[in-house]
Amino acid sequence: MIPDPTPSARQGTFELCGVSLRGPVLNGSGTFDAIAARRAFGDALLERFPFDAFVSKTITLEPRQGNPPPRLWETPAGLINSIGLPNKGLEGFLESDLPELAELPVPLVVSVMGFSRDELARLVAAVGGREEVAMLELNVSCPNVETGLVMGADPAETALAVERVRSETRKPLIVKLTPNATEPAAVAEAAQEAGADAVSLVNTLKGMALHPERGGPWLGGGSGGVSGPAIRAIALEQVAAVARRVEIPVIGMGGIASGRHAADFLAAGASAVAVGTESFRDPAAGGRIAAELAELSLGGVSRAPASTIR
Ligand SMILES: Cc1cc2nc3c(=O)[nH]c(=O)nc-3n(C[C@H](O)[C@H](O)[C@H](O)COP(=O)(O)O)c2cc1C
Repeated sequence: MIPDPTPSARQGTFELCGVSLRGPVLNGSGTFDAIAARRAFGDALLERFPFDAFVSKTITLEPRQGNPPPRLWETPAGLINSIGLPNKGLEGFLESDLPELAELPVPLVVSVMGFSRDELARLVAAVGGREEVAMLELNVSCPNVETGLVMGADPAETALAVERVRSETRKPLIVKLTPNATEPAAVAEAAQEAGADAVSLVNTLKGMALHPERGGPWLGGGSGGVSGPAIRAIALEQVAAVARRVEIPVIGMGGIASGRHAADFLAAGASAVAVGTESFRDPAAGGRIAAELAELSLGGVSRAPASTIR
């Protein structure tokens, strides 16, 4: 059962890119399956939804099967995943997932990924045109098949992608930054200049695990992405660096597992936070973290303002 995340702590209002939310705690894309959770918990999920906005898992234009199993490896402080973005594709998402996600009691953010700028533009136009969708998140952690460059690893590639899609929707565009870039803050600035309304970070860091007996990669996809407490210190530094560089809101994530962690990301300059891997351990983590964060704020715990963090 989903515990009640202290309703009084969740009744404030908070604005992100002009969209009104009841608080600053989102989920990380791909880490909470709201449709499966609704099946498991029924309407209790809607009454006690753990997040203040829901971010869908990333969808692509065409359906994808994802990577062969095994897809997960547990580390002492988190996960390495090699899921490979399995999804129903744009049409499947619009037909079967969107109506279910539209029933959630919080604004919906749809995450999209394209393997070319035109593909990304088609996704943004189609998803952005749906009234059920409040905001879009561009997952740019993938290679552009036309240039071979990972879109989000390069400021110029990112700028071209955001410029290409900007005119396709009036809805807020969040650019999800990869930590596997030489300078994520430069990518964030390029995204801002090209018209992004917010940036979110971090996505997973590249990682690998070997089979304990046979050697060779454990994950079916070969390598994967590291998430969870292991990356929190890295994420915090990147969030602080990005927040110093841009004026648009920053959504911070990476290993957040408590209200204290969330407060640290806000102190580092994030306007909102997202919870990912912790939801695998505890599906109600989002609500618990929001309540803990509210307790810290109500208790007057003061943190250094972002501008003082260097
Ligand atoms: C199993 C799994 C699946 C994920 N799927 C996506 C995805 O579809 N799109 C995306 O942008 N990020 C995806 N992520 C990255 C998370 O949204 C988040 O950026 C990252 O895990 C760091 O946060 P965390 O340490 O709190 O998990 C995934 C992460 C995990 C662990």
